[in-house]
Amino acid sequence: MEQNKSTQANTKKDLNWAELGFQYRPTDYRFRASFVNGQWTEGELITSEMISVHEGAPALHYAQQCFEGLKAQTAPDGRVLLFRPTLNAERMRQAATRLLIPEVPEELFIRGVEAAVRANYPWIPPHGSGAALYIRPMLIGVGENLGLKPAKEFEFRVFVSPVGPYYQSAGLAVISLAVSDLDRAAPSGTGNYKIGANYAGGLLATRLAQQLGANEALFLDAAQRRYIDEAGSANIVVAMRGGRFVTPSSSAVLPSVTRRSIMTLAENELGLTIEQRPIDLRKEIDEFEEVAACGTAAVVSPVGRIWLDSKWHSFYGGGEQAGPVMQKLYELLVGIQRGELADTYGWTHEV
Ligand code: PLP
Ligand code: COI
Repeated sequence: MEQNKSTQANTKKDLNWAELGFQYRPTDYRFRASFVNGQWTEGELITSEMISVHEGAPALHYAQQCFEGLKAQTAPDGRVLLFRPTLNAERMRQAATRLLIPEVPEELFIRGVEAAVRANYPWIPPHGSGAALYIRPMLIGVGENLGLKPAKEFEFRVFVSPVGPYYQSAGLAVISLAVSDLDRAAPSGTGNYKIGANYAGGLLATRLAQQLGANEALFLDAAQRRYIDEAGSANIVVAMRGGRFVTPSSSAVLPSVTRRSIMTLAENELGLTIEQRPIDLRKEIDEFEEVAACGTAAVVSPVGRIWLDSKWHSFYGGGEQAGPVMQKLYELLVGIQRGELADTYGWTHEV
């Protein structure tokens, strides 16, 4: 009887894994811990996907909230792997400090993520499906409060959802970006933190970019509108003619876990010279051989075209196909994340 139960708990859901888009799909459990009376509770798994908060909650009025995004993937031998989750824990602590939210200790963050993943085993896409379990940790100010001051109570929640590719396409989607006339983040603002406030302001930019036929907005630095910052949901990397592999340095860009990993792979595995420096878009765009947007959701998405100053600029292969550098980086990154390639960097974390 017990055996039947556990076999059932370990049976995968009957989903068309290859057809999943990037959208919310309710799963069985989520993890919740509360910060009350100056400390975090132990945390627990719950079944309700709803959160009940006070109408005066600072998360709702003043955007006192931050979040994270990471994925669990199934290896060929059935192990379930996270990718560098302690970096997400660290980034959430940095965002919390910036927003006067009590930090979620690394131990609680990792335990919450692991618990939510394990409890939803039937929803973790199988190896070879191309899909992943997206994990969304979030930290919100829930205690009632009207004046502009930090909440006294907070909720840390982790929910998961099986997802397919962020940009609709099997495998490597070639996308396009449109340089936005709107700014995402000020140089000494909050662009380098993963907080909801940055994203609300970007929704209109995304819509305008899509009206131009692009997938996403590309933001320039807000001070001079000259240097590349990042896309709405991903960092940018560029393979320049001549072999250098460059990514913007900017105080207003989210420190992407994917980008840090790709830069390491470009240098160590592809032997490219890597640089992190301001990229002057108008001056340098003709030197771009290959461009990609990178992130947990975006993975490595080659950018075929960029809309700038009322015209399209295209890159490798006329903007129609992935170039060899981004193709190789995609294969290396995804190979490690899915446990298909040796994890020589110690990046995967078995759940
Ligand atoms: N930049 C923005 C604005 C993002 O939302 C994301 C997604 O998390 C990234 C970059 C990529 O970061 P990561 O690779 O850690 O997912
Ligand atoms: C992620 O890549 O994890 C993100 O948070 C991007 C999000 C806008 C979907």
